[in-house]
Order: sequence, then structure tokens, then C-alpha cells
Amino acid sequence: LAAPLPDSYGRLLTYLRVSVTDRCDMRCIYCMSEDMTFLPKAEILSLDELARLCASFIRHGVRRLRVTGGEPLVRRDVMGFFREMGGWLGRPDGQAGLDELTLTTNASRLAEFADGLRACGVRRVNVSLDSLDPDRFARITRRGNLARTLDGIRAAREAGLDIRINTVAMAGINADEFDTLMAWCGEIGADLCLIETMPMGETGEDRTDHYLPLSDVRRDLQQRWTLEPLSYRTGGPARYARIAETGRRIGFITPMTHNFCESCNRVRLSCTGRLYTCLGHEGSTDLRAPLRAGADDVDMMHHVRAAILRKPRGHDFLIGRNADDPARVTRHMSVTGG
Ligand code: GTP
Ligand code: 5AD
Ligand code: SF4
Repeated sequence: LAAPLPDSYGRLLTYLRVSVTDRCDMRCIYCMSEDMTFLPKAEILSLDELARLCASFIRHGVRRLRVTGGEPLVRRDVMGFFREMGGWLGRPDGQAGLDELTLTTNASRLAEFADGLRACGVRRVNVSLDSLDPDRFARITRRGNLARTLDGIRAAREAGLDIRINTVAMAGINADEFDTLMAWCGEIGADLCLIETMPMGETGEDRTDHYLPLSDVRRDLQQRWTLEPLSYRTGGPARYARIAETGRRIGFITPMTHNFCESCNRVRLSCTGRLYTCLGHEGSTDLRAPLRAGADDVDMMHHVRAAILRKPRGHDFLIGRNADDPARVTRHMSVTGG
């Protein structure tokens, strides 16, 4: 069993996010532009190729794998990929393997796949949902249908999956709905996670206008709810509290007001086989060329190790960067699915 790979700041890479497609059936205003051009099929790795890369990471210490997109469930045959990755769960102690296989989804197709995901060993899903008002949901997602998403969430609960609702907090868009979302999550038995908007890629919406610091939101929520800080962690950047009134958890992801890069444990693999070592930087390393040139596991990890040593100390997202600022991240969030 290989120990997890360290970066040049001593952080250990135990968590891989793999984007299986750049496509999505929605166009959320903080994520994509209305007229996205998607990658031609020829650019995209087959699911077998992605699985081979993931296996290399797992053999080198990755213990948690999160499948993302775009929307992961729109990729054809994605369940075969989940089945294959699920094979890495539950390996004997001391052997390479996964402790957790999860996904982040918009739930539009979750009703169809929830049982299958559970059968592959998935126990927990993060579902993006920014509003419980049908018109508002349609305005935020531009293409989504709230009823369909809610059906997906219902199916996931019925399949016995734990659910965390991800809500991007936006001033003037959904800031008046957090209480409703907290109460609703209490009713359906889900956790809620509020996320600060990160400025990536042009989406045709002004995220500077929508930016909402979660420190303010939390202070406001505490006027009406009892939030008891928890040491519970999910391996990601969220900091959780227990909501005494509902018994459920609320998480806060605060890249803008409270940076968590110091404890970053992750890298991201895109569907074209590019390795992104930081969400907040453009830098990436092509793994597709060596993969297709027949690199074995040792060769491949040589490329990965070199990339990881270039992992930056942290992001430098800044609200209100000009479009011509060289430190701006121009790729869309959907390239790596967050
Ligand atoms: P858990 O395993 O449940 O902790 O998931 P997660 O929060 O790591 O993943 P999810 O896909 O639900 O992402 C939620 C939000 O966190 C998205 O907006 C991601 O972009 C953001 N996020 C996740 N990891 C990082 C990170 O390393 N850096 C930054 N800046 N944001 C991140
Ligand atoms: N800022 C913060 N979160 C974002 N997400 C997508 N785009 C952004 C952004 N610009 C979230 C989605 C999803 C998760 C993977 O990333 O809501 O839940
Ligand atoms: Fe699709 Fe998720 Fe991006 Fe929305 S945030 S457009 S659901 S990938």
C-alpha cells in the first residue's frame, strides 16, 4: 500500500474529485453561461480510461472519490463507472481502497439512478438546490425543473442515501430562503450546506452583485436558530453546526471569507484527463497523452507526483476582479464540478 502523496506544503492527497462530463442539463447562473460550448466527444476520455486513472490514484493513497460533472448522471453508462469504482470500497485494512464513493448532482436524473448508486456502495449524495420556489429555481438554473429535482431527492431518500443539499448563497436571489430551506431539510431529514459564490468563468451574471459573505448570514440565522458548532467533518471544506430546532446539520463553505486551503487534501481530474491541483488556479497537467501513449502505473504517477508538487498554497479568488486581471480564473466551475 502506497502512502498518500504529499504536496510541497506537506498536505496529503487523499481525496479525488473526478468530473465525468463537462455537460449539464442545467445552466446555473453562477456556474455556466447560457450559450456554453461543450467539448467534442473526441476530447473526452472513455469511462474505462477515467477508471484506469482513478485506480492509479487509489493505489497511491486516495481514500475518497467524488464523482462530479457538469452533471455526472447525464453521461451515458455512468453506472458502469460507479460499479467499477464501488469495487474499491470495503477492501481489507492496510490495502489500497476507498473509504467513500460519492457524487454531487443536480438530481434531475437521480430518481432513475438512486437505487443503482446505493447498490454500487454510494451512501451519501450532495444535491445542488438553491431555491424551493419553482419560478426562482427556473430562473437560477435557467433550464431546471423543480418538481423533477424534488422527485430525485425523494427517490434518493427512499433508496437510503444520506443527503446534503448544497445551496449557493446569493444576495437578491435566494438570501430570503435560508430559513425555509433549513426547515424543509429538517422535515426531509437532510443536511444543508450554504456556499459562498466563487468567481470563475463568465456566466453572463454579475456575481459581484450576488456575493454574500456567510459570516453575515450565520450571524443573522443565529437570531432565530440555535446553531451548535460540531467537529463533524465530511472530508471537504464545510464547517458544520447542529441546528437544535431541527436536529439536522448546517454546513458553511466559505472560500471568500474564511480560507480553508491550509488543510486542502484534494485534486481534480477533468473528463479530458487534465489534473487540476487547485480550484482557484488555471494550472493543470495533461494525463491523457501519457495514458494514451501506454504509460504504466509507475510512469503515470511520475506525472502526477510532479503536478502535485506544483499545487499552489491556495486560491486567490477575489470578488470584483476585472475581466483582464491575469489572476482571474476563466474556466467554468463545470470543468471540474466544483
Ligand atoms: P463533502 O465530501 O460532502 O465534504 O463534499 P464537498 O463539499 O467537498 O463537495 P461538493 O461537490 O458538495 O462541493 C460543495 C462546494 O464546495 C462547491 O462549491 C465546491 O466548489 C466547493 N469546494 C469543494 N472543494 C473545494 C476546494 O478545495 N476549494 C474550494 N475553494 N472550494 C471547494
Ligand atoms: N461558486 C460556488 N459554488 C458553485 N457551484 C457551482 N458554481 C459555483 C460557484 N461559482 C456549486 C454547485 C454544486 C457544487 C459542485 O458547486 O452548486 O453544488
Ligand atoms: Fe449544472 Fe451543477 Fe453547473 Fe448547475 S452548478 S449548471 S447543475 S453543473
